Amino acid sequence: MHGSEVALTCRMQRPRRRISIHGLVLSSLLVFVRPSFCLAQRRSEAVRKSEVSSPVVALLTARSLPSDLELGGELAGAPPGETRYITREQLLALPQLSYRVTDDTNFAGPTEVSGVSLAELARHLAASPKQDMTVAICDDQYRANFPRAYVVAHDPVLVLKVNGQPPSGWPKDTEFRSDMGPYMISQPKFTPSFTILGNADQPQIPWGVVRLEFRDEKAVFATIVPRPHRARDQLVQAGYRIARQNCFRCHNSGNEGGTKAQHPWLVLSAWATAAPGYFAAYIHNPQSNNPQAKMPGNPDYDDRTIAALEAYFRTFSTPCQPRREKP
Ligand code: HEC
Repeated sequence: MHGSEVALTCRMQRPRRRISIHGLVLSSLLVFVRPSFCLAQRRSEAVRKSEVSSPVVALLTARSLPSDLELGGELAGAPPGETRYITREQLLALPQLSYRVTDDTNFAGPTEVSGVSLAELARHLAASPKQDMTVAICDDQYRANFPRAYVVAHDPVLVLKVNGQPPSGWPKDTEFRSDMGPYMISQPKFTPSFTILGNADQPQIPWGVVRLEFRDEKAVFATIVPRPHRARDQLVQAGYRIARQNCFRCHNSGNEGGTKAQHPWLVLSAWATAAPGYFAAYIHNPQSNNPQAKMPGNPDYDDRTIAALEAYFRTFSTPCQPRREKP
């Protein structure tokens, strides 16, 4: 079935909202009390002007080809949460970035890659700059998260061509010899941008990507932020930041996070609380417990890194401490 085309107007082409008298009074008050507001508005005018030239992308309401990329989250011109599709041809018509990559472990050697940067895609497809995170969902329900800080630091790219070839001509993945299409994400060069205890920033390079979501980072992470009664504990915060980048790709919390593992956050919390030895051993080397384990090990995590993860996951099982009254 061919999907009917839905014209997607870029956000800057939406009719301006009429301003009521109340709105005028309120905004002049705001200008009066917050001079920095003017500056911010001028800056966003500038952004809007530069975006006016971007092409209008007509997304599809139904899949037209197996190679279409599914889109979700909050999309420009679509009600929040609705799914749309974009064709490979449409993606190829957007501004392309080409580079030679030498450090992407999905490729056996130096490889020519081209595609659309995630920042560029979000500018064309997300409902507004509030969708500051792109989530890439793979056919096995692994999810790679690209928060704003990651995009700024590493400039990830939705890959459309590898050595000039479409997905049918791509090399197989180095570990499982599987097809890496229909889409994958790569970046020109990866230099870790942070280290927390024994965990360095890890390259997010998913393949088998079938869906992208444009989301508000705060909303996605809301279900896994440390509970308020422990939020100031530094070890808990460190565990949170590690889990957010590592574990959340395969372990879900409600509707957020990957479901590849099929063991949600509260199950991990139960293990961290009731059997910390098993929890630690599984994180280090899952295959030592379970020869069939699909989870990759983290042999470089030292005791303190494991302690941070344990402290963080335990917060979901520990009841809030009653506040102590002053004597
Ligand atoms: C690439 C996917 C992936 C990532 C990333 C991942 N896991 Fe897992 N995890 C799995 C899978 C799949 C299982 C189910 C058993 C298996 O195949 O290993 C699992 C199982 C587990 C178990 C055993 C649960 C049980 O009920 O026996 C623990 C504990 C665990 N993971 C903790 C973690 C923690 C903590 C992190 C982050 C530091 C993490 N995992 C990151 C995929 C992952």
